[in-house]
Amino acid sequence: MTSPADLSLVHDAPSDEEHSFDELVANEQRIEPRDWMPDAYRKTLIRQISQHAHSEIIGMQPEGNWITRAPSLKRKAILMAKVQDEAGHGLYLYSAAQTLGTTREEMMRQLIDGKAKYSSIFNYPTPTWADMGAIGWLVDGAAIVNQVPLCRASYGPYARAMVRICKEESFHQRQGFEILLTLMQGTDEQREMAQDAVNRWYWPSLAMFGPPDDQSPNSAQSMKWKIKRFSNDDLRQRFVGMLVPQAEILGITLPDPDLKWNDETQQYDMGEIDWDEFFEVLKGNGPCNAERLERRRTAHEEGAWVREAAAEYARVSSRSARSATGSGMAS
Ligand code: 3HC
Repeated sequence: MTSPADLSLVHDAPSDEEHSFDELVANEQRIEPRDWMPDAYRKTLIRQISQHAHSEIIGMQPEGNWITRAPSLKRKAILMAKVQDEAGHGLYLYSAAQTLGTTREEMMRQLIDGKAKYSSIFNYPTPTWADMGAIGWLVDGAAIVNQVPLCRASYGPYARAMVRICKEESFHQRQGFEILLTLMQGTDEQREMAQDAVNRWYWPSLAMFGPPDDQSPNSAQSMKWKIKRFSNDDLRQRFVGMLVPQAEILGITLPDPDLKWNDETQQYDMGEIDWDEFFEVLKGNGPCNAERLERRRTAHEEGAWVREAAAEYARVSSRSARSATGSGMAS
């Protein structure tokens, strides 16, 4: 007779499907949409990818604010291309999330109802042109550091989307650096404007990497599944190490009096991030949360006719394609 202890052993043994999932992950191969995957893996991916997609879409707003006011035609063209890239990133990511069984409508509904998270960083205002430089340099810079490892995420559609996104983000980061460099080579007033923008964006860009490792409930499991490859704190540290020499070239001061090289750890020591502020922003109480969501809601409502027209066009086109194929077969 089987004892209760034996039963629990039988229960814990991985099924063939689980075994093959674990092997694929262990061997650095990709999980594809039709592969079996644990429910929790699927849920985590939908959570992370949809939040990421929402961040790209909401992230269009702070910069969209400057398209009509960019200081030259060249700057306007570059900014428009950049904001359009963010829209594209959102679309690749929504498509990747859809391969996991959720729908675009469901994700959009959660966003406009204020139930879905998106990156804290996009809840800060952009009062000056230098903010375009600081966003490119710091926000897109942080995005690259966080997202390059995601090109090796274990879920195929997410990893493949990230390859293209990262190429574009690196262009974004350079254009931000170049805006700041130009301002820093300008008048005293322009230099002050650049420094002021960096003072405002520096700390929120560090918070983008997420809560400290000991307060990050998802990291350990996501790293086991090879969705995330590095912890939030490790990536934040790497980002600061990348910024210091670039700030020297710009002639900009990073606004952290505690920032200094530590010979022992071979990395920079840094000051404390204001985590109370971060969690307030996550709860919806940041300087621009309400405005960002309201703008998205309005855009969604005003875009209803475009979605209807596109759906109707697709319906009519597929009907004509079907009847063309039908007549082709008959002839
Ligand atoms: N803003 C808002 N929410 C955040 C956050 C941030 N900066 N950092 C963490 N959170 C949320 C998490 O989503 C999680 O919420 P949930 O459990 O309710 O879903 C909670 O805080 C706890 O954090 P964890 O560290 O446990 O969460 P994760 O393991 O998911 O790590 C992450 C957070 C590092 C942001 C990870 O999800 C990730 O790497 N995501 C993909 C990249 C991404 O979404 N980037 C957003 C910016 S996109 C962008 O920058 C666009 C570019 O054009 C500039």
